[in-house]
Amino acid sequence: MSQRLVSGIQPTGKMHLGNYLGAVKNWLSLQGQYDSYFMIADLHSLTTVYENPAQLRADKLELATDLLAAGIDPNTACLFFQSDVPEHSELHLILSMMTPTPWLTRVPTYKSKIDDIKDKDLDTYGFLGYPVLQSADILVYKADVVPVGKDQLPHLELAREICRRFNHFYGTVFPEPQDMLTEHAVLPGLDGRKMSKSYGNTIPLNETSEQTQKRVMSMFTDPTRLRRTDPGHPESCPVYSFHQTFSDPARTLEIAEQCKTAVLGCVDCKKECAAQVITYLKPFREKREAFSTNPDEVNRLLKQGAEKARGIASDTLKTVKKAIGL
Ligand code: TRP
Ligand code: SF4
Repeated sequence: MSQRLVSGIQPTGKMHLGNYLGAVKNWLSLQGQYDSYFMIADLHSLTTVYENPAQLRADKLELATDLLAAGIDPNTACLFFQSDVPEHSELHLILSMMTPTPWLTRVPTYKSKIDDIKDKDLDTYGFLGYPVLQSADILVYKADVVPVGKDQLPHLELAREICRRFNHFYGTVFPEPQDMLTEHAVLPGLDGRKMSKSYGNTIPLNETSEQTQKRVMSMFTDPTRLRRTDPGHPESCPVYSFHQTFSDPARTLEIAEQCKTAVLGCVDCKKECAAQVITYLKPFREKREAFSTNPDEVNRLLKQGAEKARGIASDTLKTVKKAIGL
């Protein structure tokens, strides 16, 4: 029996190239190797967008469509909305009974998010419990491995602490989930900072070729190359990072040379880059088009995923309730 893998992604706005290369592409390569459960963590989104139901509703469907178009195969992996498996909420409540609050207030993402996000009241019970819910997401499937980005490591550590505490009180019910760090080349955003929705420097996957072209043409380049005749420094240019990701390796080396010797101008370099990105995204966009005209099919596939997930999750809950005396 292959090991069980669980991961989640929050529906918050359009998926972009950074998310795709960072998390989703990794899921694609893992889905066939593990018994995989991928959730769209809509309850987690509720910790920050609780005042905007229309947005959550739209974002959920968008993300489901994006994931299917990207190649998450509902026959290989289990893809579902977290809220369609009520056992996550039930286990969250049970785990919350035995999770000391100081464990939660000291999670580094807790304080930093409260400091970062000033336009919302995050001083809520639910937001404090965010990583308890995430622990429930993982433990309810008795997951062995959890692929996540570096930023999620504190949450995984907490999941292990809760797991140990539970097992200590009630006997071994859960295996300790291991994190699986997803290494990937970091794609910079249009301005050279990390690609992130909050910086407004992304390339959304679901746009037209013209829109993508426009975004690439607006990219920052080597800041020291002021004139066309100045030699450039590809290593400090985000456009060059894009070439390294999307262009042919031999051509990429040539671009570096031509940039350093001022043979190639930035406008032409970006045009070529845009063409590569557009080619790269083409299969995704075609597949997405097919799914987006058929939201009923998207919802059907996710319901089917939730049903399979519930099979496992409800067994876990039975064991848990028995163990704790309910
Ligand atoms: N908190 C994760 C993130 O923001 C998303 C997530 C929710 C998750 N539940 C999970 C990740 C369970 C791994 C396992 O990226
Ligand atoms: Fe960047 Fe290309 Fe301009 Fe060089 S030529 S600075 S790699 S955009």
